[in-house]
Amino acid sequence: MSTAPDSQYAVIGKSHSRVDGPLKVSGLAVYTSDVDLPGLLHAVPVCSTIASGRLVSLDFAEAEAMPGVHAILHRGNIGRFYRISGNSMESGFVDEARPPFEDDEIRYYGQYIALVVADTFETASAAAAAINAGYDTAAHDVSAHLASDEEPKVQSERGDAASAFEQAAVTLDETYVTPVETHNPIELHATVAHWDGEGYTFYETSQAISNHQGTLMQMLGLPKEKVRVISRYLGSGFGSKLWMWPHSLLAAAATRITGRPVKLVVSRKMMFQNVGHRPLTQQRMRLAAQADGKLTSIRHDYLNHRAMLDEYEENCGEATPLLYSTPNLRVSSATVRRNVGSPTAMRGPGAVPGLFALESAMDELACKLNLDPVALRIENEPGVDESTGLPFSSRHLVECLRTGADRFGWNQRTPGIGSMKRDGLTLGWGVAACSWPGVRFSAEATVDLRADGTARVVCGTQDIGTGTYTILAQLVAEETGLPLDRIEVALGDTRLPPGPISGGSAATASVIPAVLGATRAAVGVVLARAAAVDRSSFAGAKAETLALSAGRVHRKGEAPESGVPYGQILEAAKMHAASGNASAQGGFDDPLKKHHSIHSYGAHFAEVTWQPEIAQLRVSRVVTVIDAGRILNLRAARNQIEGAIVMGVGMALFEHTTYDERYGAPINSNLADYVIASNADTPALDVSFLGYPDPVFNELGARGIAEIGLAGIAAAITNAVHHAAGVRVRRLPVMIEDLLGAGADA
Ligand code: MOS
Repeated sequence: MSTAPDSQYAVIGKSHSRVDGPLKVSGLAVYTSDVDLPGLLHAVPVCSTIASGRLVSLDFAEAEAMPGVHAILHRGNIGRFYRISGNSMESGFVDEARPPFEDDEIRYYGQYIALVVADTFETASAAAAAINAGYDTAAHDVSAHLASDEEPKVQSERGDAASAFEQAAVTLDETYVTPVETHNPIELHATVAHWDGEGYTFYETSQAISNHQGTLMQMLGLPKEKVRVISRYLGSGFGSKLWMWPHSLLAAAATRITGRPVKLVVSRKMMFQNVGHRPLTQQRMRLAAQADGKLTSIRHDYLNHRAMLDEYEENCGEATPLLYSTPNLRVSSATVRRNVGSPTAMRGPGAVPGLFALESAMDELACKLNLDPVALRIENEPGVDESTGLPFSSRHLVECLRTGADRFGWNQRTPGIGSMKRDGLTLGWGVAACSWPGVRFSAEATVDLRADGTARVVCGTQDIGTGTYTILAQLVAEETGLPLDRIEVALGDTRLPPGPISGGSAATASVIPAVLGATRAAVGVVLARAAAVDRSSFAGAKAETLALSAGRVHRKGEAPESGVPYGQILEAAKMHAASGNASAQGGFDDPLKKHHSIHSYGAHFAEVTWQPEIAQLRVSRVVTVIDAGRILNLRAARNQIEGAIVMGVGMALFEHTTYDERYGAPINSNLADYVIASNADTPALDVSFLGYPDPVFNELGARGIAEIGLAGIAAAITNAVHHAAGVRVRRLPVMIEDLLGAGADA
C-alpha cells in the first residue's frame, strides 16, 4: 500500500516482478557454489578447536595419503599474502586484516589452520577430519558481560547531559543488551577460484565485487587486471558478504598451488565462526524529562565486543543525536576484546541494536510519565538535526507515527498492563520509531540502445536479492519507454564499469544518477544520428528538436506514434548500438551531508498475544510505515520491509549465538539450534510507505529501504511484551524464563 503523493512516472514507483525471478524459480540462476569448471577440485578448511593459544603441531600424514587428496595447505607452504593499508573507501575494506595462516597464534575458536584440497568434497572433508593439530592452549575470554577500561570515545555531545539528568523531574537509567547474532543467509559463503597462469577469476558470494577485487589484488600482490570477481546472483548476505574474508585467499592459494580451479564452500558451522556476526552490545541509556514529557537529557553509552586483532565498532549511537529533540545529550562508545572471530556489519549495523536500546528506554519513560508512547515521541520531534544544526533533507517521522497509529487502531489501546484481551488471550501493543541514514556510493553505468530494439544496461554492482537487476531495468524503461522484457541487465562482474556495494541500503540511490545519465547519453547519440543520417526520416532536423519516448524517435511536442522506432535510426546509421556512459559520486563523506541531515524514518506498531497459563507468546500483527523517499518498485520495497520485520521477530524472540565458556566455541552453530523466525512465526503484516521524494538526495528522491525495517522492530515487540505481561525485557532475545509466572492473574 503506497500513498505516493504523485505519479509522474510510468514505470518508477509501480510494482514490478523481479526481472531475474524466472531464472531463480526455475533453477537456471547460477549461484557461486553452483559453478562447475573442468578439473574442479574441492577445498575444505581445518578449523582450530581452541579459542586462544598457539598451534604447535599439525599431523597430516594420514590425510595426505588418502586417495584423491591433492594438497594440504598450511603456514609452511601456502606462500605469501600481504595486508591492505587500512580500512577506507580508498584502500578497501576487510574485516579480518590478518591473512590466513600468517602466524601460529590462535585468537578465536574455528580460526583456519589448514586447508585440504581434494577431488571431491567428501574426500576433502574426510581428510580434513583426519588432521590432528597440537596446541599450546592459553586462557580465552568469550564472556558476555562487557566492561571496558578504554577511555570512551565521545560520538556526539551538546549541552550538559549529566547535570540536566541530575536536575530532571523524571529520569530513567537502564542498560540494554543485544546478543551476538549470526548472519544466516540461506546461501553459504563460497569461492570458486581459478588461476589460469595469467590471472585469477573468482566466482564469489560478494555484496561488493569492486571491494573484493581491490582487497584481493592487494593481498595477493597483483595488479587489478589480474583479478576478476564475478557474483551473478546472491542468496542474500545481510552484511556478512560485504567485505572479503580469509576463505577467498585460501581458495586463491589452492588454485595457484594445484593449477586447478578450486571450490571452497564455507559450512554452516563455519558461518558462525569465520565470516562475521553482529557483536554483543551493552548499552546504558539515561533519559531525563520534564513532567510534561519534554526530554531534557539523553545519555547513551555503549560497548561492543570485538575480535582480538580487528577494530570493528558497532555504531549504536548513530540515530540517538537526531531522533528526538533534547538540549543536552552525550553519546559515547568503547569496545572490549574477546576471543571471537571479527564482528561485522549485520543488517542495520548500529541502528538495529542502538534503536532497541533507545526505543525501549523511550517506552519505559512514557510509562514513568504516564504518557502515551506515540505522544511522547511526537512531543519530542526536532525541527532540525540538533547534532549538527543542519536541516533534514526530508523527514516525516511524525506522519509515520500518526499513519501507523491509524492503521493499527492505536486509539483503542488501554495503557494498563494486561488490560487488553481478545479471544481469551492477553494482548500487548507496542510502538517504536526507526531511522537509517541515506547513503550513496560512487557508481558508473553504461547503456546500449541496440538496433534490434532492445537495450542493455551494465554496472559492476551486484544484486544481493533485493531487486537491483529490476531497478536498473526500470530506470532504463522509464527513460526510453521500452518494456522491461526488452532491457537486458548485466551486473556482478568486475569487468563492468565499477558499481556500488550492496550495503548500507545504498545501491538504489547510488545507481540512479549513473543509469539515468547513461541512458540519456545513449538517447543523445540516437537523436544526433537521427538528425545527421541521410536516410533517417529526421534528416536535417536539429537534434534538440527531437525526443525518444515509447521506444520511438519523434519531434518534440508530437506523439511518439508519429515517429519511428529508434532501431530504424540505428539501422539507417549502420550502427549496432548507441552507447552512453555516466558516473556519479558518493561515499561516507558525501558533500550533500555538509548541508543536510539525510535519513529515512519509520514507525513500527506490534501486537503480541500472551497466554500466561501456558506461557505462550506470539507476535500476531505488525503495522509499519516507512518514510524512505520515493519508492521505485513498490513490490520489491514492501518485500524488503516485510522480510526485515520477520527478521525482527527473530531478533526479539529467538536469535542469539551462544559461546561455550569452556572451549570458546559458538555452540548453537547450526540452523536447528540457532533459531530464526520462520513462516509459522510471521505475524500479519501491513507495510506502507509515505513516498515523499527526498528533494536533495537524487533526481528521483529515493533513499534506500532494506535495513531500516529491522531497526526498532525488536523494541516495538518487547514494548508490547511489557504491555501484555508486565515484564520489561532489556536483554534480547525474550526468553520464556523471563515471562514464566508473569501476569497469570492480570
Ligand atoms: Mo548491510 S549490513 O550494509 O549489508
